[in-house]
Amino acid sequence: MSPVSAEAATDTVAAKRPDFHPGSGRAERLLTRFHQIRDFTSSLCAGLEPEDYVVQSMPDVSPTKWHLAHTTWFFETFILKKFSPGYRSEIPQYAYLFNSYYNAAGDMHRRDLRGLISRPTVREAQRYRASIDWHVDNLLSSADERLLDEIEPILILGIHHEQQHQELLVTDIKHVFAQNPLYPVFRDGRARVAAATAPKAGGRSSATPGSQSSPLQFVDFDEATVEIGHDGHGFSYDNEGPRHRALVPSFSLASRPVTNGEYMAFIEDNGYARPEFWLSLGWMTVNEQRWQAPLYWKKHDGAWWNFTLSGFRPVDESEPVTHVSYFEADAYANWAGARLPTEFEWERAALDCPIEGNFVEDESFHPRALSASGGDGRLHQMFGDVWEWTRSAYSPYPGYRAAPGALGEYNGKFMCNQYVLRGGSCATSRSHIRRTYRNFFQPEKRWQFTGIRLARDPR
Ligand SMILES: [Fe+2]
Repeated sequence: MSPVSAEAATDTVAAKRPDFHPGSGRAERLLTRFHQIRDFTSSLCAGLEPEDYVVQSMPDVSPTKWHLAHTTWFFETFILKKFSPGYRSEIPQYAYLFNSYYNAAGDMHRRDLRGLISRPTVREAQRYRASIDWHVDNLLSSADERLLDEIEPILILGIHHEQQHQELLVTDIKHVFAQNPLYPVFRDGRARVAAATAPKAGGRSSATPGSQSSPLQFVDFDEATVEIGHDGHGFSYDNEGPRHRALVPSFSLASRPVTNGEYMAFIEDNGYARPEFWLSLGWMTVNEQRWQAPLYWKKHDGAWWNFTLSGFRPVDESEPVTHVSYFEADAYANWAGARLPTEFEWERAALDCPIEGNFVEDESFHPRALSASGGDGRLHQMFGDVWEWTRSAYSPYPGYRAAPGALGEYNGKFMCNQYVLRGGSCATSRSHIRRTYRNFFQPEKRWQFTGIRLARDPR
């Protein structure tokens, strides 16, 4: 049987979408936003073949097909089942297969077994998406203002939830493709091509930090009591509040993230073999996992190459280093005579920074080097490119309480054994990130676009 184009299947069902006549401009606005986000998910899959959609390369990775269905399940479970009278699931078993971690929403399939599920097929998962979209269209189009008041916050949450899964879809398919010796290309052309010549065999001659990129500077901040957390205007996750005052002692923050070239100097100085730089747990992990470089790096004829979503290519020394764990970020900072910033320092410093940068909409799917004009004493690349590890444990802000019910499980129950990351990455949507946004991962994780920005105490 010839493979059926994923897009074609979506289009067929999308064509059946009714001409909806929203009862108010508000419903129309919400539906426009809803469809934009849903369509962007589909567009990310444009170059994938059905075989690509089903692989789970490690327990942290979910198959693309699962992301498509799970984000759909979210709208079905928390909007249609709640607000659409007489709504009945076409396939009730999807509730079990595509629930991720919401205990209050019922039992769920094991996360590490998601790659064993060949049915529903990719096509059926896409039909499920189109069917739920159709029902959401109908519900919102006929909803009065009172019902919209109830639905809107959950729909907006579902939209942000889907944007989070778009980022995971990108990082997960990167991990899937990286297992394949053919090194499939997810998207080529758009991504900036690395320096035309590969690094010289036998090592590099430019170990000096910043030698090929804009010079690394430190920007000073005086001690201040600052407002931390979201101010309540517009959407935020519950973990960004309550807004509260925090004393932030004086500190300095690096003007840009650490580059591949700088990180190579750490590798060449035997950084991965010197316990004095590492946390005890990090040292155990490095030895168990035999880490010698960031994830996706390989030595090839004496030079470092890395797998990107545009294929396997020489490491570009001027790009921000990415796919490093908290342990590696912390060890690098120690080696460099610096430290990682706290999330409060980061948020304070980001106050004056515009939310612009290299986001998923740019479709380079890879962090970009800062142009030479970066050495101007200001902060650069605070948003986009790479998530920045902070040394702050992911814990509740003073006064935080998770909401009751399933949606209260969204963030609160993960506030243990993880670190906060800030600023978004090249796989994050620009409309998804905020100055107060708190991402979080366990310290050994490195399949996300995670990077390093250094901080220092006053000298
Ligand atoms: Fe989810």
